[in-house]
Formats: sequence, C-alpha cells, structure tokens
Amino acid sequence: MTDMPAAAPIPLISLDALPEGRGRRVCTAGYDLAVFKVGAAVYAIDDSCPHGGASLSGGIVQGRTVACRAHGLKFDMTHGCPRDPAKLQVRTHGLRVTDGMVLLDPLA
Ligand code: FES
Repeated sequence: MTDMPAAAPIPLISLDALPEGRGRRVCTAGYDLAVFKVGAAVYAIDDSCPHGGASLSGGIVQGRTVACRAHGLKFDMTHGCPRDPAKLQVRTHGLRVTDGMVLLDPLA
C-alpha cells in the first residue's frame, strides 16, 4: 500500500488584494473560484452559479451572503447553501491565511 501525498495548499491571492464587500475571481491549478473577505474571515466558493453558470465573484455581497447578478439566488458563502428555498448549492473550499497570503487548503 502506498501513501497518498498530502495535498499541498495552493496560494490564491494576497489578503491585501481582497476588497471588503466584493468578490474576486481567482483561477489557478484547475480551480475557478470566487474569493471573498468578510471582516477577518475569508471564503471561497466555485465561481459558477449552480443555477445558470453566472460568475458569483461579481455577485452582490451582504455579510456572508452573495447574490448572483443573473437571477438573484443568494448563497451563504460559509456552506454554499442557498438563502432562498431552492435545492441548488454552490461548492465551498477550505482556506487559510499564512503570512498575508490566502491559501486554498484542501484539508481545511
Ligand atoms: S445564474 Fe445565478 S441565479 Fe441564475
């Protein structure tokens, strides 16, 4: 039996480059992410609305909720679940911040 290599964190963006109250699209290592800074917390979700594929990084941010600009579905960026009664959920991704850099951490 071979050991699987641990998934290494992937640098995404400098924390200073993340605006408060707006998303930022980050494409790297096969990921297409919408990254958000809300206060001291950072969140990442897929940058593709599960309803129709619109970018969520350009969505309207209110606290930890992002509203898709295409049709208005709202998603909680902490767990990806919709705020509206629907069965669509956007995938969330684990992050951590080290030395001012936001890292995608598959183990987080
Ligand atoms: S594409 Fe996002 S709500 Fe329709």
